[in-house]
This record gives sequence, structure tokens and C-alpha cells, in this order.
Amino acid sequence: MAKALVVYTTRTGETKNIGELIAEGIRFSGAEAAVENATSIKKEAALEGYDAYVFGSATYHGQMMQGMKTMLFLAEKANMEGKVGGSFGAFGWSGEAPGRIFDTMTNIFKMDMVSGPLRLKSASLGWPTDGPGLWKRNRQKTEHFLVQ
Ligand SMILES: Cc1cc2nc3c(=O)[nH]c(=O)nc-3n(C[C@H](O)[C@H](O)[C@H](O)COP(=O)(O)O)c2cc1C
Repeated sequence: MAKALVVYTTRTGETKNIGELIAEGIRFSGAEAAVENATSIKKEAALEGYDAYVFGSATYHGQMMQGMKTMLFLAEKANMEGKVGGSFGAFGWSGEAPGRIFDTMTNIFKMDMVSGPLRLKSASLGWPTDGPGLWKRNRQKTEHFLVQ
């Protein structure tokens, strides 16, 4: 049976949730899927023995999280050439991380990438449609309402 490894970095758990859902989808299609926090991957050996890899990070300050950067340097030493790859991550407004991971998997690891990076906008931030500005205005309205 084909085996996939899903690795994530997260601060508040949203990217982990996306990773768990991706793993469920992989299992549903008949393959095995393991899910790991990037910080638990200490040696390249932990990345060996899989047919597919899906790496995800939330975006903070326009970047992927440090744990994913460190894990990608380890992954460079594991031979992933030609293996199936994907990337994902939760974001608030710009969401650079999944694209950066995707590019590394394509250009450095030479993986066979599935579609494009999967970016899911954070639900907990409550951005309605036009990002931070509208969220701030809504929050002010809510605070105004609460002090009435
Ligand atoms: C201090 C801080 C900086 C952030 N910077 C960005 C950013 O540059 N771009 C973006 O799209 N989202 C940014 N976010 C939003 C997070 O990416 C978003 O909350 C995401 O859902 C967090 O995912 P996690 O639960 O996996 O950590 C930032 C959030 C915080 C608290």
C-alpha cells in the first residue's frame, strides 16, 4: 500500500487541522498517511520510506515558520526526487508559506507536485471579505455594541 507523510508547522493549530484533513483524504483514497509536527523530525531517516510527502506551514510575517525551514533543510538530504508532493497552510491575508514550500519541493527536491499550493484562509481571524480593514471595523462595531 502506498504511504504518505504529512508534516506541518503551526502556532495556533489551524495548519495542523488542515494536515489532519489532508491525511484523512489520503486514507479515504486507499493509501496510508502519517501526520507529524515538523519539530518532531530530527533526522533525515524520519523522512525515508514514503511514496508521497505533503508539507504545510502557517504564514507569519510573510514567511513559513522556522520549524518548516529547518525540516526542509533535512529533507534536502533525503532523496525525494520524482516522488509525489503537495503543500498547504493556513493564512490570514498574504499566505506566502505554502507557495514557498511548493517551490522548494519543485525546484530543489525535483518532486512530482500535485496541482498548486493549498492555502486556506483562517476562519478564527474572522476576516469577512476585504481583509484586515473590514475585520477591524467590525471589531470596533462589536466593541461599540458591547459598551452600549
Ligand atoms: C503576529 C502574526 C503575524 C502574521 N503574519 C501573517 C502574514 O504575514 N501573512 C498572512 O497571510 N497571515 C499572517 N498571520 C495570520 C496567520 O497566518 C493565521 O492566523 C493562520 O491561520 C495561523 O495558522 P496556525 O494556526 O497554523 O498557526 C499572522 C498572524 C499573527 C498572529
